Amino acid sequence: MHYKRRIKKKPLIILTILIVIIALICVYLFNIYKYYNSPEYKLGKAGYSEKEINEILKMDDKYIKYAMDNKYEDDFIALVNEKYFLWKNYDAYIKYIDDVYGDKKVDYSYVVSMVNTRNNYDYYTHMVSTNMNAGNGILVNKYYKLPDKYAPKDIVPMSNLYAYPGNSINKEVYEAFKEMAVAANKENIVLIVNSSYRDYKSQKKIYENYKEKNGQAYADQFAARPDFSEHQTGLALDIFTPGAGMTTFENTKAFKWLKENSYKYGFILRYPEGKEKLTGYSYEPWHYRYLGKDLAKKVYDSGLTFDEYYTYYLEK
Ligand code: DAL
Ligand code: ZN
Repeated sequence: MHYKRRIKKKPLIILTILIVIIALICVYLFNIYKYYNSPEYKLGKAGYSEKEINEILKMDDKYIKYAMDNKYEDDFIALVNEKYFLWKNYDAYIKYIDDVYGDKKVDYSYVVSMVNTRNNYDYYTHMVSTNMNAGNGILVNKYYKLPDKYAPKDIVPMSNLYAYPGNSINKEVYEAFKEMAVAANKENIVLIVNSSYRDYKSQKKIYENYKEKNGQAYADQFAARPDFSEHQTGLALDIFTPGAGMTTFENTKAFKWLKENSYKYGFILRYPEGKEKLTGYSYEPWHYRYLGKDLAKKVYDSGLTFDEYYTYYLEK
């Protein structure tokens, strides 16, 4: 009886030891597997330093996965951390950096803005159709084209009280402009519209005049080609004050007032100074684009050009 019991105990002990050993081996193998599949290991293998890995691990999972699965990219972290970074544009950012900067120090914020607004392409190449469903928030520029020979509805003539003779404009924009002009008047500022809605033909004429006199590159700085002008939508106004012209308007009280207040009435300064590369146009202190009050405030508060705002926040 006593002898039999001993015989039964031994294999049990051996079995237990075996199970423990197998379990330990499994844990060990699992740890090895985990190690080789860890983001730290994979990122290190891709070539990222410890500091860079820590930065990448703070990002969303999709960026971590991308960095793990692709070759080392020295612009990756700076780009992803840019405020207006768009994932869909990643490859285009990299290409733009390679084409434009080479070994020079990269301005990532500029790269992101340029690519987001399609300015990595030459003007009037790689165009897309303006999304006409965006209402007052449509984007029209050298890459966003209106429908062929677009002619909007709701265009009404402007009174000589508010504009030089022969001007007409979108009805809603007219109401907003009147409200703004009355408010400006209360501060002894007179606003007068010099140019407003321009149909396809008149926009074509303006552009071709510039082109005939000074060539295409010059024309493209100052005038939009037909079907690419905000003026053709009835949503843009060139606003001056009596006595001021294109070279002097910037120094008037009227301009200062418009710059600070026009968004309250739904308008934004569309081609600001210093943003020429993004808007594609030289500084135009007189050109205001109607967006409606809500959107105009958002764009004004963002400090972005409408091209940047639209392509980052509104484009679907
Ligand atoms: N001058 C502006 C850019 C236009 O022609 O629409
Ligand atoms: Zn204009």
